[in-house]
Amino acid sequence: MNITNLGTRDYASFYVACELYKQITQHPHSKLGLATGGTMIEVYRFLVELLSRNNIDVSGIETFNLDEYVGLVDNHEESYHYYMNENLFKRYPHFNASLIHLPNGNAERLDEEAQRYEALINQQGPVDIQILGIGENGHIGFNEPGTDINSRTHIVDLTYSTIKANSRYFEDEAEVPKQAISMGLSTIMQAKKIILLAFGEKKSIAIEKLLQTKLDSQFPASILHTHPNVEVYVDDASAQ
Ligand code: PGA
Repeated sequence: MNITNLGTRDYASFYVACELYKQITQHPHSKLGLATGGTMIEVYRFLVELLSRNNIDVSGIETFNLDEYVGLVDNHEESYHYYMNENLFKRYPHFNASLIHLPNGNAERLDEEAQRYEALINQQGPVDIQILGIGENGHIGFNEPGTDINSRTHIVDLTYSTIKANSRYFEDEAEVPKQAISMGLSTIMQAKKIILLAFGEKKSIAIEKLLQTKLDSQFPASILHTHPNVEVYVDDASAQ
């Protein structure tokens, strides 16, 4: 696993946007694994700039998001459906809507929805590039500490650490959903290439642990050590 400090959030975000841009332009039928969260905001901003400036055809690009909260309506401002629309799909409105996939956190039968989403990824995949953030507790997607390394898309009970960390996006901690639907660790590992990004001092302990922990289900991101093609980009603050 290569961990590279690119100095600032902007440099790292631009670098990763360029990686996605190259994948899209060189392989116009690529499958992209997308992530949300504060970490990815600038990646999408730069990607939209690159796509717009060069008027790139993205109609053949298929996207799979990592996760979604359970129980937030799609137009809730903190839902990941809303996030993706605001940060990418509305800003560059040339993606083919039928090729944009996020798990449905409002499905009546959540287990069936998890199975449907997993089957879709297996049928349409593999994902060419999966981008990932990392939780302060080492989660990737919403795979919390203790998640089975063989897990597929599943319903997750969020840990208090995640609820607390994500409460910064909600008015009140009590509003943070307690569950999510997430690609499993095994689902994520099927991607041909994985790029993980971490910014800010709050992520420095997770990055240190990622370096030190070889494979431990209590630190889910450690599974990435067993993937042949992983790149990690950090800024000065998270590299400390
Ligand atoms: P963040 O979340 O980008 O909002 O810090 C990342 C994560 O929890 O995976």
